[in-house]
Amino acid sequence: MYLSNHPTKEEASKYVASLIINRINTFEPTQNRKFVLCLPTGSTPLLVYKELARKCEGGEISFEHVITINLDEYVGLSSDHPQSYYQFMEENFDIPSNQFHLLPGLPIPPHTTPQESCASYESLITSLGGIHLLFMGIGENGHIAFNEPCSSFRGRTRVVKLNEGTRKVNARFFDDPSEVPRHALSMGVGTIIDSQEIVVLAIGQKKAEAVRKAMEDGVNHLCPASALQLHEKVILVTDDEASQNLR
Ligand code: F6R
Repeated sequence: MYLSNHPTKEEASKYVASLIINRINTFEPTQNRKFVLCLPTGSTPLLVYKELARKCEGGEISFEHVITINLDEYVGLSSDHPQSYYQFMEENFDIPSNQFHLLPGLPIPPHTTPQESCASYESLITSLGGIHLLFMGIGENGHIAFNEPCSSFRGRTRVVKLNEGTRKVNARFFDDPSEVPRHALSMGVGTIIDSQEIVVLAIGQKKAEAVRKAMEDGVNHLCPASALQLHEKVILVTDDEASQNLR
């Protein structure tokens, strides 16, 4: 795992945006093969998405040959629910609707269960030819997507139970903490590490311990992000606060 540290979250986010732009701009699309970019929600990617939008307006990047695919979604929230990740992407990432994919919080016919939606998402990733670049954040407890501690490193997209700590942290987005869903649909660690390249952004002091465990402790199921040590092309991008516990 390669570390790229920057003094501030602004600089770290600009670095991630420039990396994404570089990978898209150096990709040679064909009629059948677009650049497949996997994206997160949450607080971490906000400045990256702003920078990408700015560069798009400035003509430095185009998403014409890009397909985006998201890491996760809450079970039970419809796509028009204000806290759904679908709404988050609508608000923060401007790409035509036929080029972006999210796991559905409520099954979309012909699927009738979240499990069917998950299986179909795995098939979608395969039909797109796999993920070229996966961008994600990291949870305070070391989770990646919604793979909480003790998740299998071979896990595929599935329904997961959210850890109470994660529900508490995410309660800041909801009017009432009891509204935070108890389950999510999430790409598995196995799905994530099948990506060709992974960039993880960690900003703020609250992520410092997760960053240390992911990088410096051995590969351990108690810290799902440590599975990234098994991948040959991972860049962990930090600001000074998130990297403060590294030796
Ligand atoms: C979100 C996701 C989560 C977040 C993580 C950090 O799509 O997959 O793993 O990346 O919970 O959240 P923030 O960025 O809000 O600190």
